[in-house]
Amino acid sequence: MSVTSVSEGVQGGWKGRALRCFPGGSNGEYGIPENQIPVLERGLGARVWDTEGVEFLDFTMAWGSTLAGHAHPKLLEAAARAGRDGVNFAAVNRRAVELAERIMALSRCAERIRFVASGTEATLLCLRVAHAATGRRKVVRFEGAYHGQHPVGIAGMIAGRPSALPLCDPTGAGAPWVENDVLVAPYNDLIATEAILSAVAVDIAAVIVEPLHRCLSPAPGFLEGLRAVTRRLGIVFIFDEVVTGFRLAAGGAQEYYGVTPDLVAYGKGLGGGFPIGAYAGRADLMESVSEHRLPRADYAWSASTTGGNPISCAAALAMLDLLAEPGIYPHLHEMGRRFRDGLRVILAGQSVAGQVLGDGPLGQVAFSSVPVVNQQAWLASDRARGRRVMLSLLRRGVFLNPMGTKMYLSLAHDTPELVGFFERFTEALGDSDTENGALS
Ligand SMILES: Cc1ncc(COP(=O)(O)O)c(C=O)c1O
Repeated sequence: MSVTSVSEGVQGGWKGRALRCFPGGSNGEYGIPENQIPVLERGLGARVWDTEGVEFLDFTMAWGSTLAGHAHPKLLEAAARAGRDGVNFAAVNRRAVELAERIMALSRCAERIRFVASGTEATLLCLRVAHAATGRRKVVRFEGAYHGQHPVGIAGMIAGRPSALPLCDPTGAGAPWVENDVLVAPYNDLIATEAILSAVAVDIAAVIVEPLHRCLSPAPGFLEGLRAVTRRLGIVFIFDEVVTGFRLAAGGAQEYYGVTPDLVAYGKGLGGGFPIGAYAGRADLMESVSEHRLPRADYAWSASTTGGNPISCAAALAMLDLLAEPGIYPHLHEMGRRFRDGLRVILAGQSVAGQVLGDGPLGQVAFSSVPVVNQQAWLASDRARGRRVMLSLLRRGVFLNPMGTKMYLSLAHDTPELVGFFERFTEALGDSDTENGALS
């Protein structure tokens, strides 16, 4: 539907108003057909409601940021209390210090830290620290990874067909020249990655990886191998823990996989939905953003107006308190396991070829008869069917991102949500052969 037809009043109410305000009727991603766009009004626990009063089981949870569930009273209280003392100072404040200390005690590599307001900023600053510290200009990242909205965060992510690695396909970056400075390696292929790194090591500032790459688990030895080769070649090794941080374990992927990078980026679940990001790491590298270095060439400017604001820091402290309660990680992992196992049983019961991916409270389905261990295998899966199933789930009252990305569980998810999801997934699989899954 074109903007003209919207303005002609084909879509009324909140949907129509959203379509007239936002490109594609969305505030980013989702790609939902125009007649299906839900305009959300409120959320509680693992459920959200739209402006038409339709209830959805939420399986995206604000892209994983509302890890405690929607409107968790402890986070709301902490944020309200902090706000009464002042909403933002753009300066070191008591709650930021408390949060910094808590994160540094949990994160193996975090000897120094700075707060920003999003995961995008956190990965961007990790990369800029690496450039400043090494004086090198190239970055190696993995095919299909997402590291946020900056060009390096996107380049190599959404190519619709296999790329000629290590060349970078800059589709979607909005800055095609980024291909000059980005090399793309195949996830879970240590030999190929080592070859790429060794060939141009003197130009490479950093290797950045999502330790759990989208929903793909690292092969045994892969992260350890990256750690060893980057150390040997003097390349900064960055974990993008925007998703895995505080989610797979209190110490994130560093603790879960037992590998310590040089720098780490956090966001999403840390703030429980309140906007926050953090980048942290080795003290010598983090010195790159110390203003005492200004105006040296090894100084990287870093200043985030709302980064470290007391409201987000207070919410994050409350989030970390919740995660520190006994039994929380076993519960998150148990829910995730039951979610993925349930999906496998349903797929097998309907004789549908599918691979269920994920770890911890995360899951994703790839319609493929062969194991999916990297982006090439993901691209070879039946993604059109995946999208049809996702759109069908949305129509059946499951809120998720039908662009085929991962599904997130939270502390608020339990048996009723899983059972509700399984019923609808079973139905959605049944009708997916006839539904139109084209992007609108
Ligand atoms: C692994 C990863 N890194 C970075 C980001 C960017 O975070 P934000 O959306 O807070 O900027 C995302 C967001 O989905 C992500 O999944």
